[in-house]
Amino acid sequence: MNKVAFIGAGNMNASIINGLIKQGIDAQSIIVSNPSPQKRIALADSLGIKQTASNIEAANFADFIILGVKPHFISDVCQEISQSVDISTKCFLSVAAGCTIAQMERSLRHGAAIIRTMPNTPAQLGLGMTGMFACSAVSKEQCDYAEQLMKAAGETVWLDKEEQIDNITSISGSGPAYFFLFMEAMQQQALAAGFSPEVSRKLVQQTALGAANMVVYNSDLEISELRNNVTSKGGTTQAAITTLIDGGLIPLVGSAIESALNRAQEIAQQNS
Ligand SMILES: NC(=O)c1ccc[n+]([C@@H]2O[C@H](COP(=O)([O-])OP(=O)(O)OC[C@H]3O[C@@H](n4cnc5c(N)ncnc54)[C@H](OP(=O)(O)O)[C@@H]3O)[C@@H](O)[C@H]2O)c1
Repeated sequence: MNKVAFIGAGNMNASIINGLIKQGIDAQSIIVSNPSPQKRIALADSLGIKQTASNIEAANFADFIILGVKPHFISDVCQEISQSVDISTKCFLSVAAGCTIAQMERSLRHGAAIIRTMPNTPAQLGLGMTGMFACSAVSKEQCDYAEQLMKAAGETVWLDKEEQIDNITSISGSGPAYFFLFMEAMQQQALAAGFSPEVSRKLVQQTALGAANMVVYNSDLEISELRNNVTSKGGTTQAAITTLIDGGLIPLVGSAIESALNRAQEIAQQNS
């Protein structure tokens, strides 16, 4: 059985570990390392996994090493591990935004098995969306296991080119915030109509949940068909949709996603 080391006991790694334990993976096949003790010990105590303050001990224990530290720590952590651990059979999986494979290879070694991923925050609920790209040194078996690991946090999709990670960042990575903004705008109108904050929130969150589930449970229908189905000619929904479309919502969303993409590309370029 593969053993997995999680470097960093923060939000993203905790989400993945929680998902793995829920799936029934043996807790003793997982180790988490983090220099400061609180989060690491709390995580280990609540889930029964191993823990250590040493990244090297964690990396020595494992076949898969999940790099879940902030992007600016990735190079240091990779260097620390590669200087003291035989990494020839290990597979590294990074969740760090903007850290390229070239950057990690420089700190590990050229030809190291590295998978770059871009999850999003709903991973905390097991409802994440993760884009994954594997460099050519990663074997089919390693890809399969890495996919199984990330599926603990939600859905996954494999990418053909590393650059597509930037597109993933701009669509699903930053995407939850786009929906939050739309919900905030609706909530403001509900408040303005005189509903209490609690009722306003309930109206918006249940509508968002229902709409998302309509899309999920009607996978044979285009999203535009679902919209058309609730848009009667001359009715209230059509009045609102016309206002949104005439107001430029569709190109505006396109520009927003392009802005996020440009920023992701700039950050990746700084790190490549
Ligand atoms: N959260 C998300 O939704 C999300 C989405 C996509 C990608 N990501 C990526 O996931 C990574 C982690 O993000 P996060 O939100 O989980 O951050 P976080 O909660 O701050 O977790 C990072 C953890 O790394 C620990 N750490 C710092 N230096 C370390 C070292 N040298 N060795 C081992 N552990 C170390 C920190 O410990 P201390 O707190 O004790 O310093 C902290 O527990 C980032 O690279 C981010 O880009 C996150």
